[in-house]
Amino acid sequence: MKIAVIGTGYVGLVSGVCFSELGNQVICVDKMEHKIEMLRNGEVPIYEPGLQDLLVKNASEGRLSFTTDLLDAVQQSDIIIIAVGTPSLPNGEANLSFIEQVAHDIAQSMNGYKIVVTKSTVPVGTNHRIKQLISKLTNHPFDIVSVPEFLREGSAIKDTFNPDRVVIGTECEAAAERIAELHRPLSDKIVVTDIRSAEMIKYASNAFLATKISFINEIANICEKVGADVTNVAEGMGFDHRIGHSFLKAGIGYGGSCFPKDTQALIQIAGNVDYEFKLLKSVVDVNRDQRFSIISKLETIFGSFSNRTIAIWGLAFKPNTDDVRDAPAIEIIHELVQRGAKIRAYDPIATANFRQWVDHASITWCEDALQAASGADALCLLTEWPEFEQVELSLLQSIMNQPVLIDGRNVFTEEKLASTDFIYSSIGRPNMNRGEILRTALPL
Ligand code: UDX
Repeated sequence: MKIAVIGTGYVGLVSGVCFSELGNQVICVDKMEHKIEMLRNGEVPIYEPGLQDLLVKNASEGRLSFTTDLLDAVQQSDIIIIAVGTPSLPNGEANLSFIEQVAHDIAQSMNGYKIVVTKSTVPVGTNHRIKQLISKLTNHPFDIVSVPEFLREGSAIKDTFNPDRVVIGTECEAAAERIAELHRPLSDKIVVTDIRSAEMIKYASNAFLATKISFINEIANICEKVGADVTNVAEGMGFDHRIGHSFLKAGIGYGGSCFPKDTQALIQIAGNVDYEFKLLKSVVDVNRDQRFSIISKLETIFGSFSNRTIAIWGLAFKPNTDDVRDAPAIEIIHELVQRGAKIRAYDPIATANFRQWVDHASITWCEDALQAASGADALCLLTEWPEFEQVELSLLQSIMNQPVLIDGRNVFTEEKLASTDFIYSSIGRPNMNRGEILRTALPL
């Protein structure tokens, strides 16, 4: 099939590359010339394992190309995939201006029947608005299909080739069949539904996963007070197939470009029809508070932060990505700096992105994990990059000023800690807490 993909962010680029790998002819469009230039040179502007190799392969075999010329791409294609961003407005609502602009541009470029597929996450009713907008501007026939995207950053290629399901929302049976045909090599679990339900499936799925995370984080907070271990609790719960093991990892909460934005947007979607989504509001509140559990733990140990040096391991919102959007590290570091702490921060790949959000004279940006920990009064692990688990803990202790380790992702085991004298605290594992938490024992 001939496909134009508009927008070369995570969703657009990964979808474009994967559809070309399936043998389709794909043109990826973006209005940012430098991005298109990079892509034409085989460079990928985002960090995503496996993406570059697949991109270079398909481009060199002639199935994948890049352009800023939306008109030409639309005219050469039968299927137009919209994959531009829907960032949050200050009130939490999704900003649809990019989508509307693209719909306008598509309408003005049409030269025959097209299937317009929306992959961007859009509030319920948006695809109908897009349909109206396009039909006002063109007499060419077209159908609108909503195909929400469920890929995760860091495993985007794997997720695209192995989706749990493909959701197709449309009013046209023939368009549904054609889009099903496009996705059939990826999955046989294809859910065909109406457009509004497809739009809602995406928000409801992300909101539900966010709810699982906030739920287990609250259980973790209770575990800390009653002496239970949240990892054992989650394991025991997960064997119930109605619950499942995934998304029950307690920690310092979710971040990223989707969960925070989509939960806020769904609260707003409900609010717009006079429905207060109380449960989801609590999920968001719990997630915001959870980040600060790191600060409370440090506060219990040190009292005040002035002149304390705190090392931070991990700035990305999760491992295997350089994305720091809504990463817990942003608020944690900001708060520690405000309270007078000096920071030594390290992330394997996300430091440059992070510095665009937070930069301050009190922060030293380090080249490796041990350099960050060197001379620190405490170390906080905020992202579970695999390399952190490999660090020799007795060596780590020997280079720190004080042996304080706050594990925000429950990475370290009792065995690993056994040969050290770390004062250790993690999330919801009070049985793992080690060391006397006495401020007086920790002089400056
Ligand atoms: C998410 C959805 O999973 C994906 O389907 C959607 O298309 C986009 O949003 P992503 O944001 O890439 O994907 O990351 P994901 O792996 O889902 O993790 C989101 C956040 O939740 C991360 O901050 C992660 O650390 C956190 N998380 C995840 C937990 O705290 N505990 C868990 O058990 C799982």
